[in-house]
Amino acid sequence: MLKDYDLKQLVSPLLQWFLNHARVLPWREEPTPYRVWVSEIMLQQTRVAAVLGYYARFLAVFPTVEALAEADEERLMKLWGGLGYYSRARNLQKAAQEITALGGFPDTYDGLLALPGIGDYTASAIAAAAFGRREPAVDGNVLRILSRFTGSDLDILDAKNRKIFRTWAAAALPAERPGAFNQALMDLGSAVCLPGPSPRCGDCPLAHLCAALQEGKQAVLPVR
Ligand code: ADE
Repeated sequence: MLKDYDLKQLVSPLLQWFLNHARVLPWREEPTPYRVWVSEIMLQQTRVAAVLGYYARFLAVFPTVEALAEADEERLMKLWGGLGYYSRARNLQKAAQEITALGGFPDTYDGLLALPGIGDYTASAIAAAAFGRREPAVDGNVLRILSRFTGSDLDILDAKNRKIFRTWAAAALPAERPGAFNQALMDLGSAVCLPGPSPRCGDCPLAHLCAALQEGKQAVLPVR
């Protein structure tokens, strides 16, 4: 069985790699709660490259949570057009109205989770990136990286196993800059620890610690 110690070993090489390889993204340059929240909602079901233009236009028209709360619905839907999954835009406005009524953003995982349109992943991602909370944001990238790093053949589609992966991510998550840690895993998963048979292990800062690579199992993990 895996020990916390083993998982913590990935923190320092990962964050060191992130210093030089982090994608420059507008919600990272200025990670206010509003900007981080809008980005995480847009990034649900949508790739970073597809989000960037919409994100810039959206923030230009609705620069604050108050502006969004009062937005004309037709204008909002027009700005969202093309991103799809329109319930996201409707929930975004509902949440903006709740946030304004509360007098500001909830700054905890539970408070964020109570807002419309925010599930476990999004609440964790915002709590860590905008409020420095120690919450692991476990998406497909993180499941793949942890499955390979630990050499685990637990099926990542099984909800029971996802809980186990979440405890592993939580064990690794540092108290300092948890948002950077979460986003470093996202970037490693999108640029290096690629899905499919040919991850770029030669470029991976965790290669020397990776159980899958040592056992030649990187092409067959994660199990799904
Ligand atoms: N996908 C979801 N959240 C993200 C983030 N903060 N950075 C990059 N990709 C993401």
